[in-house]
Amino acid sequence: MIKLPRIFNSARYEALPTNDKPLTPRPRRTFLRVLLIALLMLGLFFGAKHASRRAPSPYTTGASIHRNLTSLPSHYTLPSGDKIPSVALGVWRARPNEVGKAVKAALKAGYRHIDGAWVYRNEAEVGQALRESGVPREDVWITSKLWNTFHAPEDIEPALDDSLAKLGTDYLDMYLIHWPLAKKDGKPYDKDLTHNPYPTWQKLEEMVEKGKVRNIGVSNFNIRRLENLTSNPLKIRPAVNQVEISYWIPQPELLQWAKENDMLLEAYSPLGSEGRVRDTLKVREVQEIAKELGMTPAQVVISWLVQRGLVVLPKSVTPARIVENFQVSALPQELFDKLEKAATSHKPYPRLNPSRGWGIDFDIFD
Ligand SMILES: NC(=O)c1ccc[n+]([C@@H]2O[C@H](COP(=O)([O-])OP(=O)(O)OC[C@H]3O[C@@H](n4cnc5c(N)ncnc54)[C@H](OP(=O)(O)O)[C@@H]3O)[C@@H](O)[C@H]2O)c1
Repeated sequence: MIKLPRIFNSARYEALPTNDKPLTPRPRRTFLRVLLIALLMLGLFFGAKHASRRAPSPYTTGASIHRNLTSLPSHYTLPSGDKIPSVALGVWRARPNEVGKAVKAALKAGYRHIDGAWVYRNEAEVGQALRESGVPREDVWITSKLWNTFHAPEDIEPALDDSLAKLGTDYLDMYLIHWPLAKKDGKPYDKDLTHNPYPTWQKLEEMVEKGKVRNIGVSNFNIRRLENLTSNPLKIRPAVNQVEISYWIPQPELLQWAKENDMLLEAYSPLGSEGRVRDTLKVREVQEIAKELGMTPAQVVISWLVQRGLVVLPKSVTPARIVENFQVSALPQELFDKLEKAATSHKPYPRLNPSRGWGIDFDIFD
């Protein structure tokens, strides 16, 4: 019988790897570990994608959106140094006994910006809701607007005081010239003041100096009117221009102008307003992006508008929609581009133009 050297003794041989444990098995184990981790990550990635596509709730929660997407700015800083929240609750056409509840629901959902106007005739109920909410006045951004019939310098302070009294506050965060039209009740419009609202603007500057208003701006001004107003020796330049901006009228030229001139745009009727909201939410690209990201169509539109650098003012009196509209998040660049392209490649389709109703002999947007 041949005696094998001890080294070939099976027991000893089997024992060798055990003895060499710190040296030989490491590469194989590391490889296995890496493979396992990779498989686990792949599983997590596809699982998350699958789950987000099948978001079961009527609106996706902020938590699940933020898991996959980066967030949007919650504020912009104005030349005054004040920080204006990027999403506001609009209260036009919010009726008595519903507007106060909407304001309270919005504050509860995290909104800190209410976009109102003297002419909406609901400032008293808005003010009462603000007080009853318990949210400190200084934490809420309140915008109101000077109506067309009060552009004459002597009418401005009384109109502002009326808004302040109704809202129950001693200052506004923002006061806007609502429309570029100076009118007196029952009289033809004031052509000079409409053509050059500098005297109106000077009075607004005085209101800032008096501390009744912190920031001033305009609304429904086109580039020609903005250039006309800002060609005057202004002490304070308009901080914002509030205009209709939605999928139907994205206003890229005005947005470009505003960016070049350090002016913020605020998007009103962002969902297409009462009459067109259903069409907006059915836009093919909006639906596709919503599906892909597990967001609702309204969230996609509002997110896209904030991502364009706008303050966005969706109106709702429906508690679930108020919450939904505030849960916005940045779209991945390619999806943002897809919606931007779709919105800017069709003919602009504005919704609001009251020129004819006001009986004026020019188009308010010309
Ligand atoms: N400066 C100006 O001249 C001017 C002009 C127009 C508007 N604005 C401002 O902009 C704000 C918004 O404009 P807007 O009211 O014309 O239009 P909007 O916000 O585009 O649309 C409001 C409509 O959309 C519905 N809605 C809201 N969220 C929704 C959601 N998630 N899903 C489905 N439907 C939804 C609302 O219904 P419910 O309320 O029934 O939920 C309402 O019928 C106004 O309130 C006002 O503050 C300013």
